[in-house]
Amino acid sequence: MNDPNGLVFYEGVYHLFFQYHPHSSVWGPMHWGHATSRDLVHWQEHALALAPDELGMIFSGSVVFDAHNTSGLAPQGQAPLVAIFTHSQPSTEALGSPHQHQSLAWSLDAGATWQKYQGNPVLQSPGLKDFRDPKVFWHATTARWVMSVACGDHIAFYASEDLKNWSMLSRFGQAMGAQGGVWECPDLVALTLHGRERWVLLVSVTSGGPQGGSATQYFVGDFDGRTFTAEHADVRWLDWGPDNYAGVTWSNTPGRCLFIGWMSNWLYAAKLPTAPWRGAMTLPRELQLREMDGHAWLCTPVAAEIESAFQSGSVIQIQTSHDLSQALANSQGRCRLTLTADAATSWALQLSNAQGDIWRLHYKPETRQFGVDRTMAGQSDFHPEFAACHLAPRFAHSSVIHLQVYLDACLMETIADDGLSAITSLSFPSSTWTGIEREGNVDVSLQTL
Ligand code: FRU
Repeated sequence: MNDPNGLVFYEGVYHLFFQYHPHSSVWGPMHWGHATSRDLVHWQEHALALAPDELGMIFSGSVVFDAHNTSGLAPQGQAPLVAIFTHSQPSTEALGSPHQHQSLAWSLDAGATWQKYQGNPVLQSPGLKDFRDPKVFWHATTARWVMSVACGDHIAFYASEDLKNWSMLSRFGQAMGAQGGVWECPDLVALTLHGRERWVLLVSVTSGGPQGGSATQYFVGDFDGRTFTAEHADVRWLDWGPDNYAGVTWSNTPGRCLFIGWMSNWLYAAKLPTAPWRGAMTLPRELQLREMDGHAWLCTPVAAEIESAFQSGSVIQIQTSHDLSQALANSQGRCRLTLTADAATSWALQLSNAQGDIWRLHYKPETRQFGVDRTMAGQSDFHPEFAACHLAPRFAHSSVIHLQVYLDACLMETIADDGLSAITSLSFPSSTWTGIEREGNVDVSLQTL
């Protein structure tokens, strides 16, 4: 699997559709898989939601709850869930370049089964090779649907009153931001900072990320219902790790902005040494804006539901490295480490196992950088760029650093300063971590679920 798709909260259930190739663990003709959760912690997988057809593969897209049946896709008196996705046909001799168009499907049984719209596609490519990943939301001020769609090196915005007829509003991003690869998976969200509405545009870029390969950048700015204007020219990354890509947010969660990303990187996604599965999501994160040094920064703390799950588990406040190691071994490598560290001196945390694999997290006050080192953390020979030490800036200025490391087998998410710095990275130790060592001024506690 790859990208999260169709994230929607509906009747108390979080839906997570995802790019899925059911016949192999490498990318192929894309379908939409489907999973649901009531608490963002426990997930259940369901039958395939959408399969390729004569218009092409089912690429990424979104789902909205069409509460007033503006689309007319539901019988009178009912309201459908509507999926807006890309139909993608690979390039062939007859077609020339790939053909990507936006299409609809709808569900009247809370996402369990889907029907494709007869009039597909509803939005044809304006002659662009890359034209995909429609993300739709209801824009209350102008009382219409707004779609963001990725167009190679920029994002286009379209509007519709019925999800079927779309007209172009504007374009954003040509020659802006990180342009080291193709732009994909846009998401335009409204967040509040100091009581004022601000808009954030997420854009994933296939290569040229801060650690090489793919990554997700964001722009903070304003959206007037027609045009998005960024308020900064610098490139901002949602996550500084190598493995958080194509992330988007749930629709229909008033007052909250919940995000999930695909925990991988197109550099080596097809080579990751897992079986029979390949591809996983990050933990759900809450998107928030925080002001610092006169600028609005995006923070990605882990969703409160995950935090409460850890709080109801056993908390192990330990003083000695031996006790910590014991607790880590008992957790089978699935736990959260909470670090409280000094921002004025260097410190490090090291995980190890019986095979001699080592994963290391360090902080250096001189450069104000965190480092996540997976050069010796286990299997890495499947791709030359996998073994690396990834550096990430610390943005916060407080004298104490609060940091969480979420571990689950090969998945690791490091979140510092309430999500101001996040470093999501995979590593493949030969066996679970059983040793923890600390250097310098850092306290560590361990929680299990
Ligand atoms: C992003 C992406 C999307 C596309 C999908 C295909 O990872 O390349 O642009 O819709 O994956 O699986």
